[in-house]
Amino acid sequence: MDTPRFPLAVIGAGALGLHFAARLATRGPVAVIARNQARAAALRGGVDIGAQRYMPEVFAPEDAPAADWVLVLVKAADTADAARTARAMAPRGVLSLQNGLTGAMLATGCGAIPADQGITTEGAFRDGARVVPAGAGETLLPPGFEAVAAALAAAGFRARVEPDIAAARLAKLLVNVAINPLAALFRVPNGALLEAPHRGLLDALVDEAWPVLHGAGLQVDADAARARVHAVATATAGNRASMLQDVLAGRRTEIDAITGTLLAMAAAQGVELPTHRAVFTLVKRLEGCPSVSS
Ligand SMILES: NC(=O)c1ccc[n+]([C@@H]2O[C@H](COP(=O)([O-])OP(=O)(O)OC[C@H]3O[C@@H](n4cnc5c(N)ncnc54)[C@H](OP(=O)(O)O)[C@@H]3O)[C@@H](O)[C@H]2O)c1
Repeated sequence: MDTPRFPLAVIGAGALGLHFAARLATRGPVAVIARNQARAAALRGGVDIGAQRYMPEVFAPEDAPAADWVLVLVKAADTADAARTARAMAPRGVLSLQNGLTGAMLATGCGAIPADQGITTEGAFRDGARVVPAGAGETLLPPGFEAVAAALAAAGFRARVEPDIAAARLAKLLVNVAINPLAALFRVPNGALLEAPHRGLLDALVDEAWPVLHGAGLQVDADAARARVHAVATATAGNRASMLQDVLAGRRTEIDAITGTLLAMAAAQGVELPTHRAVFTLVKRLEGCPSVSS
């Protein structure tokens, strides 16, 4: 018998993908697309998400069923593969909630199917085979994804459509380019970046970044930019940034989609960002070399 069409699907059975899928599945069917058959088979036995045991309806990419709406929650470097899978699922729309600016790559891969990028400050991390939710946040979606916002809200997420989603993405990028690489380089939780000796570098990254993001449409000045980054570092003081987790696990980071995107935007504006360039080079050096600065 053919697999029925799902109202919702999540591509990427990692920390955030499983966190979203498990909650959404309390309200209706959710197809989860894992990296491959082996990972799908392992997940069929169930996965602990916080205190909940979740039994996902999980598929390998080649078996992905049709779905109305597809959420993309793979790491940035896997976006093109996820777009190919999403396109084959013939959805009404494809929504990325990834970090970095991946929307253009996703849209290219999805062809005529509407694809766009929102942002989320939900948090989750992997602890062995478990997923640990790491704090409720807010999820902002682009216009056109009202049905997904409603599904997320019904599942208990703070979610809404944001008319100026482009500005929201740039604001998130500002935070990510400042906090993520420094947390990974210094191997400290986010809150430590507000203290010496890291604070000077944090502020230097913000001071370099905001004019470029302002030039791209973010309504922000120097004080507001610093205040925004400091507020996030304070609110997430105990958290390990995802780039730090990637470095510690010897995984590839999202530095290309985060700092790399900022550097490309600066280049297009004819601007040099020497501090971000240095940080980019250092994180690249760390990728896959977890012992470099131990
Ligand atoms: N975690 C958070 O708190 C958080 C918060 C905000 C935004 N984000 C963003 O959300 C995205 C996902 O983050 P994450 O922390 O959930 O990462 P993650 O735990 O590494 O999960 C990504 C998952 O995608 C899977 N995958 C890779 N390629 C795939 C493919 N072609 N098809 C299907 N699945 C594939 C990976 O498989 P393997 O397990 O085999 O590697 C992995 O399970 C990132 O862009 C991140 O920046 C995360």
